[in-house]
Amino acid sequence: MREAPPAVWAEAARSARGRAYVPYSGFAVGALVVTTDGRAFSGANVENAAYPASICAERVALVKAVTEGEAPPAALVVVADTAEPVTPCGVCRQVMAELCPPEMPVYLGNLAGDWIRTTVTALLPGAFGKEALSGHGGRGE
Ligand code: THU
Repeated sequence: MREAPPAVWAEAARSARGRAYVPYSGFAVGALVVTTDGRAFSGANVENAAYPASICAERVALVKAVTEGEAPPAALVVVADTAEPVTPCGVCRQVMAELCPPEMPVYLGNLAGDWIRTTVTALLPGAFGKEALSGHGGRGE
């Protein structure tokens, strides 16, 4: 659905994008996680000369929310300089599925101000999750 996030969230994600470390791709991405208690955690992609060690903006923001926040994520905003609203990679979708409620809103945008509002489950239907691990002797609950 074409729907923009609250302007203050969009601006915070755009501002986070400005702090991306992208010497290899030149493709800066900004993200913002808002938690249920109203706190906000920003993220930007941070690349590495050993390319697979790079981390996406979405995961930076989610990891900050989990390690610094006290309440669960309630919304995620992602923005990049793309023709269409930016689309998250598969790894980030899997991490969203792990850390966020399935119906949590995810706002995907670009610098032109085009926005899509989707959800975690719409981005990764049928995600592999902790339920699959129950009864296997691990600690995944
Ligand atoms: N990237 C993100 O940070 N988020 C996305 O949604 C798409 C891709 C980053 C990873 C890498 O630093 C650069 O964009 C090019 O793939």
